[in-house]
Order: sequence, then structure tokens, then C-alpha cells
Amino acid sequence: MNLTAKLKEVQRNGSALWAANFYNLETLQGILQAAAELIQPVILQLTRGSIEYMGLNPAVAMARAMITKYNVEAWLHLDHGDSLELVDRCLEAGFDSVMFDGSELALGKNIEMTHRVVELAAEYGANVEAELGYVAKLGQSTEQVGFTEPDEAKRFVEETGVNALAVAIGSAHGFYKQTPKLDIERLKEIHAAVDVPLVLHGGSGIPDEQIRQAVQVGICKINVATETKNAFMRALSRQLKQTDEIDLRKVFPPATAAVRELIKGKMAVLQTA
Ligand code: 13P
Repeated sequence: MNLTAKLKEVQRNGSALWAANFYNLETLQGILQAAAELIQPVILQLTRGSIEYMGLNPAVAMARAMITKYNVEAWLHLDHGDSLELVDRCLEAGFDSVMFDGSELALGKNIEMTHRVVELAAEYGANVEAELGYVAKLGQSTEQVGFTEPDEAKRFVEETGVNALAVAIGSAHGFYKQTPKLDIERLKEIHAAVDVPLVLHGGSGIPDEQIRQAVQVGICKINVATETKNAFMRALSRQLKQTDEIDLRKVFPPATAAVRELIKGKMAVLQTA
């Protein structure tokens, strides 16, 4: 099933998919092991930074081979695509889905660019996600400005033909200084205004109960990245403090296991949603 159809199915069922960013073989393994153990679908995400780190074709080949190895229902998605050129390269390399992030552009320009991405992706039968509103990126202010306006969301979806919409309702990328409080009322209004599956960015650190509430009112995809990096690096650092072992094949597995347990925990939250 392609991701557009899967997100629609998930939307009908009132559930959601986790979309987990991976950075190397080990984080990819951890995510897929979680999905395989719980027999859950998962979206695997790459950002420009991760693509530059691993190389586009090696990252795609590795993801495809590992999806087959673990026999998991999974899709490869470009997270925060920032140019038509990057989107095009990812589609050509075989991504199932792309995000075009025009959230920092003026509304008209965001609509125009996103529409071009939708047309481009149609040639590949790929899913398209876009963002409307301000979800603070790493290092940006998390002041409550630029939340998604329901009427703008309606216009945006109609004029772009996008398949999924990331909304700004109080989440932010990276760790939170204070417990976030999602604007569930606003989410309800957006949900009533548009019929596409909605996406929640900044999933790391949002309390489970708020995740469940958000899923009840239209969130169908939740992104998690920071917690994965954190789980992996904390576990690796603990290992390195305990041993002089230089065989990385012995010190990486506990870090991979930490990612697996983290993602299993996230998936369990949705199973009870
Ligand atoms: P976090 O890093 O806060 O989990 O956000 C992930 C994300 O939204 C990626 O697009």
C-alpha cells in the first residue's frame, strides 16, 4: 500500500503512524527492530543533513535492504525538504514520500512551491507532506507565534493538492524547556476545516496523553528524531565509560537496543490511543 493510502486508512481508523528519523545503520536497525517486534508499520525519515552524511543512494539502498530484512511495512520519506532540487533528487532515488517545508515562506509562496512539488511527486506516485505555520526548528524561538490558522489550512490544502499537512499547534523540534501544551482546540478546528491527514512535528518530549489526544482529533503521523539521537548517544556514552573495547561491533548493539526500546515505547502509546 502506498503511504497516501496508508495515511488515509490510519485516518479512518482514528490512529496514527510514527515517523522516525534515522542517521546510520544502527539507528535504522533499532527503529526496524521495534516495528518488527510489535508488527507495526513505520515511516523512515531522512533530512538533508542525514542524506549528506550517508549519501543519497547508499542511504536509500540501506533502508530498502533493511526493510526487506526485517519484513516490516515501511516507507521512506524526505523530512523538511527545503528545495525543489532536493525533492527531485529524492524522488528520483526512490523515496515513497517527500515533505516540502515552505513554512517560513509567505503563504502565497508556500502554496506555489508546494503545488509544484505535488505536480512533481505525481510523476512518481509519491506522497507529499507540507507545513503551514511555525513549528520552531532547533535553535529557533519557541514563543507561541505562527500557529496554523484553520481557514489558511483549508485554502492551502485546496490550492496545493497536498496529501498530508504538518500543523503548528504548540510543538517544537528538539528538547522542550517546559512541558509542551498542544492547542487541541485549534487542532479540532483545523481537522474540521481540512480532510487530509495531519502531521505533528517535534514529537520528542510530548507527554503520551497529549499524543493520544492529538491522534483523536486528526493527527495521523507523528515525527520523532531528538529522542532517538539522545537514546542512542546516551547508551553509547555509558558503554564507552565502562570499557576500553575498540570493537565497535560490540559497543554499538546496546545503543541500537536503546533506540529499539524507545520506539517500542512510542508505538505502545499509539496502540492504546
Ligand atoms: P523532534 O526532534 O523534536 O523529535 O522532532 C522531529 C521532527 O519533527 C522531524 O521533522
